[in-house]
Amino acid sequence: MKKLQLMAIVASATILIQCTSSSTTVEQPSILDSTALQAAYTQTVNGKNVGIYFLKNANNVEVAITNYGGRVVALVVPDKTGTPTDIVLGYDSLAHYQNRNEAYFGALIGRYGNRIAKASFNLNGNTYQLAANNGPNSLHGGPMGFHNQVWDVVNHDDHSLTLSYLSKDGEEGYPGNLTVKVIYTLTEANELKIDYEASTDKATVVNLTNHAYFNLNGQGNETITDHELMINASKYSAVDSTLIPAGAPVAVAGTPFDFTTAKLIGKEINTDDIQIKNGLGYDHNFVLNKTTSNALDKAATVFSSVTGITMDVFTTEPAIQFYSGNFLDGTLIGKGNKKYGHRSAFCLETQHYPDSPNQPDFPSTVLEPGKKYQSTTIYTFGVRK
Ligand code: BGC
Repeated sequence: MKKLQLMAIVASATILIQCTSSSTTVEQPSILDSTALQAAYTQTVNGKNVGIYFLKNANNVEVAITNYGGRVVALVVPDKTGTPTDIVLGYDSLAHYQNRNEAYFGALIGRYGNRIAKASFNLNGNTYQLAANNGPNSLHGGPMGFHNQVWDVVNHDDHSLTLSYLSKDGEEGYPGNLTVKVIYTLTEANELKIDYEASTDKATVVNLTNHAYFNLNGQGNETITDHELMINASKYSAVDSTLIPAGAPVAVAGTPFDFTTAKLIGKEINTDDIQIKNGLGYDHNFVLNKTTSNALDKAATVFSSVTGITMDVFTTEPAIQFYSGNFLDGTLIGKGNKKYGHRSAFCLETQHYPDSPNQPDFPSTVLEPGKKYQSTTIYTFGVRK
């Protein structure tokens, strides 16, 4: 008898919990037109199938990713009023990425994220020559880097997308056949997690990242200088005029680069400072304060007082490139015909330091055969009222 009563109580408690949880999050219709997006992205490129893949959680967070460049095309999060807001820049169709993009919107970047000085490096006695696609330097793996390749779709369900890519020995000048796997996962804790893995058959250099451009006021809004930013970094890489790190990292204290306490991005972005001038704003490598070298520590927090949207970044990487969208100048027209103007987005690209292959004192980016490259970055979204 007692056992039955107990079972009845447990059963009604379960119903109560179910009712409570279903009443807290009301499922909203998607603001992404999946039929139109599928039509705009489903194509064959160089004999390989390109498509668009959706992830969704119970809190109305949605992500759309194409396997062309492994690009995050849309990232929709509810703002403080519950209004779904797309917070990444991008294009309405695949053709636009192929024809117009030089900004790496939402892309997976490799084989080497950011710059390699004079587009060349030495490894084990050999000199490797890369394409100079950014003044004298190599940027983001070269013109046909991973951002412009069709990735294989290994697995897709509502919560994750696994992509793989074989970068052949000699592609864009890099040595070794590099097998890369990237897993995008959307959790019920509103985390977009990106796991990177790679292995090679010949010593090479690897530095993988994602190049999402965020505007927490909603993509296409005018500026991100009104966002509040914290970066958990006591040092950053001062750069030369071609944005190559000029030696060992220096202290942020007392400079416009001190984001250890949250401040508006715009607060010191126009300061008369040689480093701000070199970057035309912020375009620098911040060296993260770590608990242990590969720990998945908090790297940054961003907040928009307009939408209340917050973004926390966690990474196993030693550094992060904070780029304040200085090269956006209104010539790129993105999703929904929005004009992407100067500083209308920011990037927080988790990474090893730029130009590591030429700077032996930096943490190594060399991957040897038999070793596994592994790295994780998480972007977590929320609201602050
Ligand atoms: C670089 C910028 C560059 C941007 C887009 C960033 O990672 O640091 O200098 O303009 O990517 O290519």
